[in-house]
Amino acid sequence: MPNYRIAWLPGDGIGVEVCQAARTVLDAAGFQAEYLPGDIGWEFWRTEGEALPVRTVHLLKSTDCAFFGAITSKPAKEAARELVSGLQDKGLSYRSPIVRMRQLLDLYVCLRPCKAFPGNPLNYREGIDLAVFRENTEGMYIGVEYPRVPEIFYQQAGMERIPRTAAISLRSITPEGSRRIVKAAFDYAVKNGRRKVTAVHKANVLRATCGVFLEAARQVAGEYPQIAFDEANVDAICMWLLKNPHSYDVIVTTNLFGDILSDLCAQLVGGMGFGYSGNIGERYAVFEPTHGSAPKYAGQDKVNPLATILAAKMMLEWLGEKDKAAAIEQAVAAVVAQGAVRTYDLGGSATTSQMAAAVAAALGR
Ligand SMILES: NC(=O)c1ccc[n+]([C@@H]2O[C@H](COP(=O)([O-])OP(=O)(O)OC[C@H]3O[C@@H](n4cnc5c(N)ncnc54)[C@H](O)[C@@H]3O)[C@@H](O)[C@H]2O)c1
Repeated sequence: MPNYRIAWLPGDGIGVEVCQAARTVLDAAGFQAEYLPGDIGWEFWRTEGEALPVRTVHLLKSTDCAFFGAITSKPAKEAARELVSGLQDKGLSYRSPIVRMRQLLDLYVCLRPCKAFPGNPLNYREGIDLAVFRENTEGMYIGVEYPRVPEIFYQQAGMERIPRTAAISLRSITPEGSRRIVKAAFDYAVKNGRRKVTAVHKANVLRATCGVFLEAARQVAGEYPQIAFDEANVDAICMWLLKNPHSYDVIVTTNLFGDILSDLCAQLVGGMGFGYSGNIGERYAVFEPTHGSAPKYAGQDKVNPLATILAAKMMLEWLGEKDKAAAIEQAVAAVVAQGAVRTYDLGGSATTSQMAAAVAAALGR
């Protein structure tokens, strides 16, 4: 009998192929679960005007956790076209279904581990092992925006754009939201034998909002005297991460800064084919690769599935299936180190499914 109920959300484009690859590995690891497919993404926006249908939200509420592939977002140009063709509501109401899942289910932790697998030809340096904690529910992504008049209005009217028109996006940072993400980072550091937590901010300019975050970070740091704590400006740390990535260990920051920094960190250890994350709350979590739907590769069985396989590993860790999770990580490490089966991004010609089969086979050894 399956032990877990998993909401299975492949989404769009390569999301479908990489989720299939993850299933191959989960099955080979002997993980027993009931997988309940859910609708999400571009197709549902197009046909129903809703990228995260309510039935999918109900599915999330009735499962242990969710596994998500990728979605295609609404292109900005299309939103503007809808505005002028009278579909105002549609044009303005598109919201990222991922951001909505995070907010609806209060998945306030976005954890993105970035570990260099030995022998990965895409490693920036060997031995990098970072964990980025990004606050997932507030900051610049609360969705409160005041748009300027879309460019296309001016084009259609044959008018020059008035340079005065402005747009505003609001940033909200709360002491509670800051405290819980920093605490999650310190708890992770303690549990995983990490030595240091770095709080990333821009408090010299964004004095009010980053000030709230930094004050909470300092307070929480005082409760963990066994873990070193330091602070860095977001611009400076981008430079230092490239110059000396081994100086950092656990990084904690606000939503937008974390979104950007975690992509930078993923690139240090192999890029899109290796970046994965968990969106984690008190009772529920959604696991995903960090890449998008890569439409130009969709349906070609070509992209690297390791990010998604590692997201599956993270899901097992969260569910408490530690041995199976460790076995998957070792199997990934073995396939990367051997280098016999590599997708195009790693310089090889193996397919997505061949790479998944290689990891599954390595599990048996
Ligand atoms: N979490 C998500 O679902 C998510 C994240 C980012 C972008 N998006 C959306 O995805 C669509 C495409 O966006 P994009 O092209 O900017 O980003 P993308 O991540 O989909 O792809 C960018 C490029 O990265 C490479 N790449 C991505 N995944 C790879 C993999 N597994 N293996 C090897 N190479 C890989 C490919 O060269 C690809 O063309 C857009 O609609 C975007 O909004 C979704």
